[in-house]
Amino acid sequence: MRTLWYMGAKTRLTDSIAAAVASASPRGRAVCDLMSGTASVSTALCGRYRVLANDVQAYAQAVAAAYLEHDRASRRVLETLDPEADLGAAYRRNRDALLSQLGPAAAVEDAFLRASGLEVAARDRQEDPNQAGLFLAPELPPARRRLPVDAQLRAGAYRTFALQSTPTFCEANDARPSGPFRDAAGLFERGAIMARRAAPSTFPYHLCSSYYPNVYLGLRQAVDLDSLRYAIDQLSGRGAAAKRRHYLAALLHAASVTTSATSHFCQPRGLVRDAEVLAVLQRRSVSIPSRVLAFSHAIRTTCRQTDPHEGSRASCADWRTLYASGALDLIDVVYADPPYTADNYSRFYHVLEVLTRYDYPELQVSRGKTTKGRYPVIGERHQSPFCHRRGVDAELRALCQETAARGASLVLSYAQENGLWFKVQTERGASPAEAREGFLDLARAAYRDVRLETRGLLHSGQGDSNHQVTELLLVARKPR
Ligand SMILES: C[S@@+](CC[C@H](N)C(=O)[O-])C[C@H]1O[C@@H](n2cnc3c(N)ncnc32)[C@H](O)[C@@H]1O
Repeated sequence: MRTLWYMGAKTRLTDSIAAAVASASPRGRAVCDLMSGTASVSTALCGRYRVLANDVQAYAQAVAAAYLEHDRASRRVLETLDPEADLGAAYRRNRDALLSQLGPAAAVEDAFLRASGLEVAARDRQEDPNQAGLFLAPELPPARRRLPVDAQLRAGAYRTFALQSTPTFCEANDARPSGPFRDAAGLFERGAIMARRAAPSTFPYHLCSSYYPNVYLGLRQAVDLDSLRYAIDQLSGRGAAAKRRHYLAALLHAASVTTSATSHFCQPRGLVRDAEVLAVLQRRSVSIPSRVLAFSHAIRTTCRQTDPHEGSRASCADWRTLYASGALDLIDVVYADPPYTADNYSRFYHVLEVLTRYDYPELQVSRGKTTKGRYPVIGERHQSPFCHRRGVDAELRALCQETAARGASLVLSYAQENGLWFKVQTERGASPAEAREGFLDLARAAYRDVRLETRGLLHSGQGDSNHQVTELLLVARKPR
């Protein structure tokens, strides 16, 4: 399975998680993947169980829905997908409307790519061979600007183009586009964005082109994300809901692995070193439509292999809200994989959330300027108590108690060395053995049968070298 680029994805652990779920409820038929992220665990379980995948982030729900929500009709839709017929015309309509304003700037980007030996709109190597050649990038008239031949000077020129000359929408004041962006003022003005906030589905879609150009995306990539998002929303008629689910998930995957930041959307790169400029240009050379076709292919292949149990569903809620809704009534096992560090997912993956909601959110302003990370205002970003030093213990305890109170077994993933709960125990003077015992006690307060499985894994951190971590799997049965 080709997943989103995601911190803590359990792709390598799905076999041991599936075994733990089976042992937690040998006759169980329904499982809730409570914080489903990439849906890697839901997908591994959905052939055997009815799965309810839940996450507080809307993009995670969108991804899980594409893998899980199938019946006979939607399976047929997947087997007969025709991206050109489904998306082609609407995609080109939106793209051409945006390129009529951003064309001269995109031509400058093309020139930088070519001068660096890169292809414009390069194809994803895993593109579906049957769809190859769809959605080709239009040739633009050559850029007026001449680029330096010397690689170092050219890197400097790109730095200026991307970091200084490219306008982005600002909450506090109007950007004044000039040079190759001269014709695109309408995309960056406050008034234009306010109008979109009131009516987000107005044509043309331009959220990514206004918020993230040369920040987390290249120019053509921003235009393509907007245009495919528009095309997905225009789907209508028979099978439209299934197609929308499928293509939106493919689009989110494409955006995730194309970020110009390292592997998420926490901070754009500063382009300080020339090597960084080249790395960013390499990311920006890839065609978003081609990647969407590649992921469409990958998602279809996974669905064919897993053959999801009918009745599986994806939802988007804080776990407490989900529990209060009664959705857990028929669930035998809850698999919970909460965040285990102080990093809130909503900060690292905000672009995926914004792309899913597509509502032109208000951006956070600090000292009169939109933040460098271009995050939505804090009220729009979920802050998880699992990421809070002071809140994590109570949240884990409550999770055990509330799950037991609903009569379900619990399988809980956590990390020892990097786990925030363990860090807090160590700071309080607990030895590793005492901390593990304390971790078991969290569940023992609510369950009569509790055990802990451990597994060593090599993790590649954000930018740092590989390090060994111990993945914990707590299995709790027989609610008190
Ligand atoms: C470690 S990741 C899960 C990874 C997932 N198991 C996978 O394999 O991709 C943790 C997830 O918890 C979600 N989350 C954080 N707080 C939450 C809450 N209060 N309720 C529901 N989901 C939450 C985050 O959005 C994130 O997707």
